[in-house]
Parts: sequence; C-alpha cells; structure tokens
Amino acid sequence: MNSWRLVFRGGWFRTAMSLPAIAPSLLAANFAHLDREMDMINRSEADYLHFDVMDGVFVPNISFGFPLLEVAHKLCRKPLDVHLMITDPDRYLDEFAKGGAAVIHVHYEACPHLHRTLTHIRELGCEAGVALNPHTPVGLLDDVLEQLDVVLIMSVNPGFGGQSFIPHTIRKITQLKQLLVARGSSARIEVDGGVSLSNAAALLRAGADTLVAGSSVFKADNPEALIRDLKHVSTTLPA
Ligand code: DX5
Ligand code: ZN
Repeated sequence: MNSWRLVFRGGWFRTAMSLPAIAPSLLAANFAHLDREMDMINRSEADYLHFDVMDGVFVPNISFGFPLLEVAHKLCRKPLDVHLMITDPDRYLDEFAKGGAAVIHVHYEACPHLHRTLTHIRELGCEAGVALNPHTPVGLLDDVLEQLDVVLIMSVNPGFGGQSFIPHTIRKITQLKQLLVARGSSARIEVDGGVSLSNAAALLRAGADTLVAGSSVFKADNPEALIRDLKHVSTTLPA
C-alpha cells in the first residue's frame, strides 16, 4: 500500500513506503499490435500482466485461452496473473501452470471443492487466488484463508471490460482486510473492474494492494504513464 509505516530495525524506527502492484488487463489491449502492447508492459512499472479467460458459460462472453497464453508467456517479462472465469477450472489448472501462469485465480462461485482446488494450484508452483463476484460475501473465505495467496475482489460483474465500478466494493475490501488482519493472513487483496485514477486511492486506503486495470490503461493517451500514475497515486485524504 502507498502509505508510510514504521519499521523496527536494529533499535531504530524508520519509515518505509510500499507501493501497490499494478496488473494491466490484456483484455483491453489492441490485438492488432500485440508486440507493441507487450513492449509497453515490459517497459512500464506494471508488476503483472492480468490474463482474463472466459468460457461463454460461467460468464456471458468468450475471450482467449492457451494459444494467446503462449504468446504472452513468450513476449511478456512480467508474471502472468491468470483469472479463470470458467466452469470446472480444475480440468485446466495443470495446463495453465505449464503455460506460464504465476498466479491462478479461480472463482468461488465455480468451485465446489475450493480447498482441493487451491491446494492443487499451490502444488503446481503457482500462487493461489480466489475471485469473488460482487454478490459473494468475503466471510465465505473464512475456511480457506490458509490455502490462499490472494483474493480477487470483482468490482464489476465479470465478463466484459470497460464496465462501471460498483461502489460497494470498497466496503468489501475493508471487511476482507479486517478478516485477514484478524487471522494473521498475509494474502494480497487485488481489485478487478472499472479501476482508474478516480477510485485507486479509495481502494488502496480500504486495504487493496494490487490493482487490475484494463480500459483505463490501454485507452489512455499514454498507457505507460497511466500505469506509473496508478502505482504512485497519493492516498492522502485532502485536508
Ligand atoms: C472483467 C475482467 C477484467 C477486465 C477489467 O470480467 O475480469 O479483468 O479486463 O477491465 P476494465 O479495467 O476495463 O474494467
Ligand atoms: Zn480479470
């Protein structure tokens, strides 16, 4: 988070600032110029490349899959943050891990055996993430916190880029942060959907540490600068 905190080192308190992680979403990129888009991501301060997989069943849209993952893995130097908006994700976890995923998010709503699914993702050497639709309460994660590396809070209904941010997401992030702190969990809080410079500070103040941004990055006049601005957004409240 972009806030100052006191760190105890060798008898002295010192201040340290940690910045949020930024994950531009490939879904909003210009596919006619993928090389150029990947170069921009590689040059930028982005921490991940967010890779949205949609199956037309779990969500009412179809995006892309393994062939594009191969391209992304080859061209992109940032870790791949794979968001599976698909039914029965267990069938494909091995292939996504082999294809270069660093993080794999499955949807809570698509996993009847979530504990097993998350355990398997970690066994594959990836970080395990659970995505929550806007209507799914954060408290439902209570019994899998130890299997989780990251929670992906959906701030739009999944399926499309360019949708409007759903404001009650801020409250969910606050609740999730409280739950993680109370349980001593170091899981990251990632937010996905409608994220822009106008809501980034509020999301970070609520407890998010990773921001996914599609349209706001790729439709910007200068996407690289927009990534930098998101990463360094001020979280100080106006006096
Ligand atoms: C939505 C996807 C998002 C999407 C975000 O279902 O999961 O990752 O690409 O795009 P923006 O930032 O345009 O809302
Ligand atoms: Zn996504």
